[in-house]
Amino acid sequence: MSKMNRTALAAVAVLLAGVTSAELPEKDGHTHMGVATCAASQCHGSAVPREGSNVLQNEYVSWAQDDAHSRAYDVLANEQSKSIAARLGLASATTAKICLDCHADNVPAQQRGERFHLSDGVGCESCHGGAENWLANHYNLPAVTHEASLAAGLFPTENVAARSELCLSCHLGTKDKFASHRIMAAGHPRLAFELDTFTELWRTAGRQPHYRIDKDYGERKGEVSHSYSWAAGLLAEGRQRLSLIRGPLFDGDGIFPELGFYDCHACHRSMKTVQWRPLPRHGGVGPGAPFLHDGTLVMSMALARALSPTDGDAIEAGLIAMHRAGADNVDAIRAAARELDGALASLQGKVTPRSLRGHEMTVLREILGTGAEGNYIDYISAEQAFMAVQMLVIEIDDPWLEDQLDRIADTLNNDERYRPAQFAAMLATLAEPETEPENESIE
Ligand code: HEC
Ligand code: HEC
Ligand code: HEC
Ligand code: HEC
Repeated sequence: MSKMNRTALAAVAVLLAGVTSAELPEKDGHTHMGVATCAASQCHGSAVPREGSNVLQNEYVSWAQDDAHSRAYDVLANEQSKSIAARLGLASATTAKICLDCHADNVPAQQRGERFHLSDGVGCESCHGGAENWLANHYNLPAVTHEASLAAGLFPTENVAARSELCLSCHLGTKDKFASHRIMAAGHPRLAFELDTFTELWRTAGRQPHYRIDKDYGERKGEVSHSYSWAAGLLAEGRQRLSLIRGPLFDGDGIFPELGFYDCHACHRSMKTVQWRPLPRHGGVGPGAPFLHDGTLVMSMALARALSPTDGDAIEAGLIAMHRAGADNVDAIRAAARELDGALASLQGKVTPRSLRGHEMTVLREILGTGAEGNYIDYISAEQAFMAVQMLVIEIDDPWLEDQLDRIADTLNNDERYRPAQFAAMLATLAEPETEPENESIE
């Protein structure tokens, strides 16, 4: 029992530290043994969850059947990928490094074990790290502790900071792999990510979840609330984005900066309707300017306003400076991005599972209130706001609010037909439930 408590405490300590020094699996230097080495029926390939085991042991089956990651390589052979490759002048998407880096476990050839197959796509070791040094004994608990496996190269997926870095490495990109505007314009889907929403979507895809968050899991690894996972993921996304803007990737390969960092809909909208309105965070920049993608930064500002107003002011000032710098030059944007990153780092230092507890409703109200005032006229902010509202509402566990989620989702189901006034009106209804809770006629 005391053993259990110590392990739990160690896990919580890792969690609270918020940062880790683990290398991402893609560059951990260990041999990746291949999905087949995890898939034996007495290991993770059981047909159904096993009784009396800490973990489900059917992770392989749920991955193979229901997890999009198991098909990530296969999609590189489909018609969409063929067109993308042709437009980019690539021989084939199934052999192009730029595609494989996100759609498979593309470690160097000398790090591929005998049972490794690139065609497994995003497999176990793409997330859990190369198993070379822990495969043989990681299940031998309690003789071999989880900490010992971590030391042998198991990636700390339970650590929220490490997990967001992992997911973001493919769902946003890094300095080494990025789905640029060229790739988008060749036909790649626009990427959008929110850690908590995507974790839940992925974990519970299909018939069996990838892992169960129960009492035992909490004791072993610490509990992670939706609000914490959302907040930590948000700040990680914002900081990763700003760090990429400050690096060479942002220079782009022509006269424009890399347009993949901009709000797609700023350029790809309609010429028939004028949607532009001045927004406080745009700091007086007039119509016709493309804005940098700031969806997660806008949410960070709301989070700060609810938790730490000084940080909220600093983030707003940083955002205004960055949008204004957009009219000057790339160096000015980078200088402003550095300031803004400092403000996010300050907030990050204050965001812990404990500091958020009891403030979920305040954060939710802040997002709803800001949205009701019409600040999410850009689709990407609205999309981030929706994902945030959804996870917070689930955590707050209010049935009336939960019932409204589908209607809000409906207003966002087509990004090119997004009507900001309708979205703002929906958020206003949620912000003030006592007025007109049954208003169905918002246009
Ligand atoms: C920075 C990482 C990254 C790079 C680089 C990248 N992709 Fe993707 N790709 C993704 C992610 C993440 C998704 C899933 C997006 C989502 O659904 O949110 C995706 C989705 C796709 C889809 C749609 C899949 C589906 O199920 O509908 C296709 C097709 C695709 N990518 C092809 C390519 C090709 C071809 C290349 C190389 C030219 C490429 N990708 C490069 C990360 C990347
Ligand atoms: C997209 C990334 C990803 C992929 C792919 C993936 N996992 Fe996971 N896995 C996670 C995350 C994140 C968690 C939850 C955090 C944690 O407990 O470590 C997890 C949890 C687990 C757990 C439960 C741990 C516990 O203590 O309850 C097991 C076992 C596991 N994964 C095995 C596998 C196996 C086997 C495969 C391949 C068939 C696989 N995973 C593929 C990311 C991934
Ligand atoms: C090595 C790159 C990589 C990593 C790491 C990764 N993903 Fe993915 N993810 C992808 C690709 C590529 C796809 C698209 C696959 C497809 O469509 O078949 C995808 C698809 C998804 C989808 C399905 C999206 C949809 O539109 O249906 C979810 C949800 C998801 N990932 C969540 C996560 C989470 C959560 C993590 C971190 C625990 C993570 N991913 C880590 C590359 C990655
Ligand atoms: C500063 C303006 C600007 C921004 C921001 C921008 N694009 Fe583009 N986009 C363009 C231009 C210009 C073209 C080329 C149009 C052409 O070939 O006729 C283009 C082409 C495209 C195309 C191909 C359209 C076609 O008809 O061939 C797609 C898809 C696309 N962009 C997606 C995106 C996505 C996704 C984002 C956000 C990550 C984005 N764009 C951001 C200006 C922009």
